[in-house]
Amino acid sequence: MYQLTPSSDLTKPELYAALAEAANALVGGERDPVANMANLAAVIWQFLPDLNWAGFYHVVGNDELVLGPFIGKPACIRIAFGQGVCGTAAALATTQVVADVHAFPGHIACDADSRSELVVPVVANGRVIAVIDLDSPLAGRFDHADAAGMQLIAQVAARAMSGD
Ligand code: SME
Repeated sequence: MYQLTPSSDLTKPELYAALAEAANALVGGERDPVANMANLAAVIWQFLPDLNWAGFYHVVGNDELVLGPFIGKPACIRIAFGQGVCGTAAALATTQVVADVHAFPGHIACDADSRSELVVPVVANGRVIAVIDLDSPLAGRFDHADAAGMQLIAQVAARAMSGD
């Protein structure tokens, strides 16, 4: 069994390695994408400090994101590719690290508490199938170590959602 409560003195690479191990353990025996997204959202929330929203938007059709499992306040349900931080990450298939959401053109405010945001695309078989969105009430909460760490979790999510 994985460590449920990570030690607070871990470096970010250590913390994300522990999160990736926990994430892999949670989704390892299950192929249902909704169940796996739900448990991944929960374990991300459990491991990472200073979040006010953590969850998934999954791709429906060619160019739309639809709200998936998450922890946090109720959120915007549909986001077109190219809109907001999530739609930008999906359209460009690149991680978005936003230190100040008020400075991001087109940012979609779901929770007024959100000050910074990290969105990582989930890519399976060369296609973006979802994004993982993390919001924080702290400005500048996310850095490149968080982006690299969450890209590991996105790889776990890609396998957990595509049944690979
Ligand atoms: N802020 C996001 C929308 C989703 S919520 O933060 C949960 C965006 O600009 O895409």
